[in-house]
Amino acid sequence: MQHSDIVSSSQQKPFGKRNYPLNCWWVAAFADEIGRKPLARWLLDTPVVLYRSEAGEIIALEDRCPHRQAPLSAGKIEGDAIECAYHGFRFGAGGRCLKVPSMVSPPPIKVESYPVREIGPIVWIYLGDVERIDAVPPPPVMEWMTDPAFVIRKGMMEIAANYLLLKENVLDLTHLGYVHAASFGIMDWVNPPTVTTEGDTVTYTQSFVRSPLAAGYAMSLGLEPGTPWNRHGFGTFLSPAAHESGTIFFDPDQPDVPNGRTFFAHLTTPTDSGNMLYFFVAARDYANDAAAMDHFAQILLRGFKEDEEILCKVQALSTRQPRRGSQGERSVKADAAGVAARRIVDRWMARETIVD
Ligand code: FES
Ligand SMILES: [Fe+2]
Repeated sequence: MQHSDIVSSSQQKPFGKRNYPLNCWWVAAFADEIGRKPLARWLLDTPVVLYRSEAGEIIALEDRCPHRQAPLSAGKIEGDAIECAYHGFRFGAGGRCLKVPSMVSPPPIKVESYPVREIGPIVWIYLGDVERIDAVPPPPVMEWMTDPAFVIRKGMMEIAANYLLLKENVLDLTHLGYVHAASFGIMDWVNPPTVTTEGDTVTYTQSFVRSPLAAGYAMSLGLEPGTPWNRHGFGTFLSPAAHESGTIFFDPDQPDVPNGRTFFAHLTTPTDSGNMLYFFVAARDYANDAAAMDHFAQILLRGFKEDEEILCKVQALSTRQPRRGSQGERSVKADAAGVAARRIVDRWMARETIVD
């Protein structure tokens, strides 16, 4: 049987063991989630507590008291320190024990503290080998997030699926006409896009010429649904943690002048091998008054829940291997970007010296 469009086959990814690099900046939270109350997060199989110092700096510590393993996030913040709710041990911003109520001076115990970077609305964390931190690519900066021409909406979902499943989802938009037929109604994403790999990034691009606009697109542009319009879509795997995408619209009669830009960040952080936190940021530089953006955010959320539903089903089946049937996966041309992303993640993993 000839299937020239089948470009590769591979063993089904088990998604049961760690397939994320530790030596990578991942998203811990949105900046406005972190304040003077402890925020608990499981990130990369690690319990983490986040809070701000009196000066507003973000502090990230292991969320496990070394005394009897109470979560420090159940405790309270005192100055720049956090006090365990169980027996009152207190830990400073660097993780060192500052006080044990039953002792005159504290013992030399500590909790791990983790480097963090706050960039625009995003808080990045590094949970890997600190000796290697300078060799690791810095967190990607997406300038549109802080560009005053854009208005953003953001959200976070906890999804019971491996983070790579979402990476592949956003790298292959041929699912739009199926998973999102009822929400986004974008039915023209059919052909495999152009894919370019550069170093450890992979980008797809897809141009639509005089293609009838889906209702949501048309409404935001003030046009009738089905109006033939030009648009350019792209998506880039920036790192195992970050994917950036966008759609730029053009009047077909003025095809060089953008008349609307939408950008997205799809930021995934593994909780463990079968779960992720999915942080998303969406922005528009047109139709971006509060009501229009709220409406946009509602449609997006509906669509992202559709992704969640199918990804959870994929995760469940991939971890519960069937007794019969093909155990592998068959990739087609439209998967080229997703397949490249898997290879890039494999390279990130291979560079690590940490042994499980
Ligand atoms: S468990 Fe934290 S002080 Fe005892
Ligand atoms: Fe989707």
